[in-house]
Amino acid sequence: MEQKKFKRTTVTAALPYANGGVHIGHLAGVYVPADIYVRYLRLKKEDVVFIGGSDEHGVPITIRAKKEGITPQDVCDRYHKMIKDSFKEFGISFDIYSRTTSSTHNKFASDFFKKLYEDGKLIEKESEQYYDEEAHQFLADRYIMGECPHCGNPNAYGDQCEKCGSDLSPMELINPHSTISGSKPVIRKTKNWYLPLNEYQNWLKQWILQEHPEWRPNVYGQCKSWLDMDLQPRAMTRDLDWGIPVPVEGAEGKVLYVWFDAPIGYISNTKELCEKEPEKYGNWEKWWKDPETRLVHFIGKDNIVFHCLIFPTMLKAHGDYILPDNVPANEFLNLENDKISTSRNWAVWLHEYLQDFKGKQDVLRYVLTANAPETKDNNFTWKDFQERNNSELVAIYGNFVNRALQLTKKYWNGIVPECGELQDVDKQAIQEFKDVKDKVESYLNVFKFREAQKEAMTLARIGNKYITECEPWKVWKTDPKRVETILNISLQLVANLAIAFEPFLPFSSKDLRNMIGMEEFDWSELGSTSILKPGHQLGEPHLLFEKIEDETIQEQLDKLAKTKEANEAAAAAASYKAKPIKPTIDFSDFEKLDIRVGHIKDCQKVKKSNKLLQFTIDDGSGTDRTILSGIAKVYSPEQLIGKDVLFIANLAPRKMMGIESQGMILSAVNFDDSLSVTTTLGEVKPGSQVC
Ligand code: MF3
Ligand code: ZN
Repeated sequence: MEQKKFKRTTVTAALPYANGGVHIGHLAGVYVPADIYVRYLRLKKEDVVFIGGSDEHGVPITIRAKKEGITPQDVCDRYHKMIKDSFKEFGISFDIYSRTTSSTHNKFASDFFKKLYEDGKLIEKESEQYYDEEAHQFLADRYIMGECPHCGNPNAYGDQCEKCGSDLSPMELINPHSTISGSKPVIRKTKNWYLPLNEYQNWLKQWILQEHPEWRPNVYGQCKSWLDMDLQPRAMTRDLDWGIPVPVEGAEGKVLYVWFDAPIGYISNTKELCEKEPEKYGNWEKWWKDPETRLVHFIGKDNIVFHCLIFPTMLKAHGDYILPDNVPANEFLNLENDKISTSRNWAVWLHEYLQDFKGKQDVLRYVLTANAPETKDNNFTWKDFQERNNSELVAIYGNFVNRALQLTKKYWNGIVPECGELQDVDKQAIQEFKDVKDKVESYLNVFKFREAQKEAMTLARIGNKYITECEPWKVWKTDPKRVETILNISLQLVANLAIAFEPFLPFSSKDLRNMIGMEEFDWSELGSTSILKPGHQLGEPHLLFEKIEDETIQEQLDKLAKTKEANEAAAAAASYKAKPIKPTIDFSDFEKLDIRVGHIKDCQKVKKSNKLLQFTIDDGSGTDRTILSGIAKVYSPEQLIGKDVLFIANLAPRKMMGIESQGMILSAVNFDDSLSVTTTLGEVKPGSQVC
């Protein structure tokens, strides 16, 4: 398909929910690739805006607020700041990072809805919803809990069972209750406004399946599977009190669906930006309505349906707007072979990384791009992180730069020497690195960031090979003139590296640029052998990257291990259910049991058994009694000697391991099979009866 020519590009990155921090999964999936792309376009001097912001509506935010006893706005304020700071720290170079609770957005989203409503693009429909009569409100799916019809989990949510992973609807739950008041919800009729996706199905099919075969296979495939089914009208309003009020008469107590207002945030944030800096960005409309503008959405795979089907349908129904030209969605990143999860705290949080790895933002950017989940889910491990830092950033990139600069310092006082006549080895190196520009570009143009970064690294590999082959330290003695050429070419490569890595590793590029005293740089200079002019004074060299030690990595692994342990304990506690009570017995049955207090005089391990302990019990009769009990895994004999315990005194004797056991010591067995011997609270004489 012929490439359309565009004048400018609007790049958006999914607006993260302001109910938690951001972690490496977000960064790898959305923000680093988007940032690489935008930096690349800027270096090429293209016209581009990069729009971000926090998604501050939606039910999870209200739930968090309730839990903490603060307002939803408080929750948003806290996390919006935290997220915004993290992005800034990692060099995610948004032109604007605003929020969907801004007044600009409120009005914009409201007007957008109103226009669809007035143009008759929405349908009004009644449906049955659960209603909490005590709290006087309709219940969002997340506010209803009950038993999962599939696995019996008593704590399933109205939209999902977290135990068995089934998607649910609230009506499917057995014994539902409201999490707000705890009461049993009733069914009530309510009116909402729907976007008739079904009416746009053919148009969507044509637009995506016919006109965008170049979209990533994972994105195209997901769209196709949706479009192969019959699309249903989708509610764009909700009965909820947190969100943008529905601007229609008779819609009191209803707000816009969070997935309606959030993507509109891309537009309203652009508007806010353009109104703030009109000289720099011009009119917002050119970024959203001019067919010569290219719109690109960076998202994670769970957002595909919203950005490829629902939002485009909203834009189409509204009219005037351009549609996304591409939606490079990533798959998911796992952490140490386990799904990243906020609720289980299985994540590397950016704010924590920044504390533990000060100044190493680029290392994480590098590793996340090298492992970007572009075509399939991928895995982040701390070992790999260390390995890529030590054997790629340090040993290849940093090492080459350091060699080139140190040699220049040593032989030429840090001044760029002249390039003399070229030998074959020079010509070959120059040829090799000239190709790199085309390769990096061809990958970046189609959103293949891992491949592009690999190519950038090739420059450093070429450099190392070149210096090793040329051996300037040997040549110096016989032909110092020749060394000038070798150094010149090496330094040009260093300058090339600074440019090529700018989109990927902006902090290191800046550092390097300062080190070699390079002013502004320009992508078009990539591949050039005359970036640094002879006579130019370089700055003092220092190392670009440093080795990461095993202990540092171990600390991170230990931290995760602790999290895992805490999760397992919590899961065990959550799944605890007392065993059902046995059938009722008569008092006379109980009376048959003779339960007594016994004093443990001695206790020993039974030979050849890892379970049994042999007790010598004073049962008050004057004759010691021997009892065996299978609790050796839980208690050592020393822990029990001298204790008073309860035992059944009239149980028929039993032989185990050749020893006769005359009764049974009572223990309480925990749900996870751990146990605790029962003992008496106050002082009781051996032989006392328990009744
Ligand atoms: N908050 C959503 C999420 O984290 C993404 C919203 S993207 C936007 O999944 F389109 F709505 F902005
Ligand atoms: Zn279930």
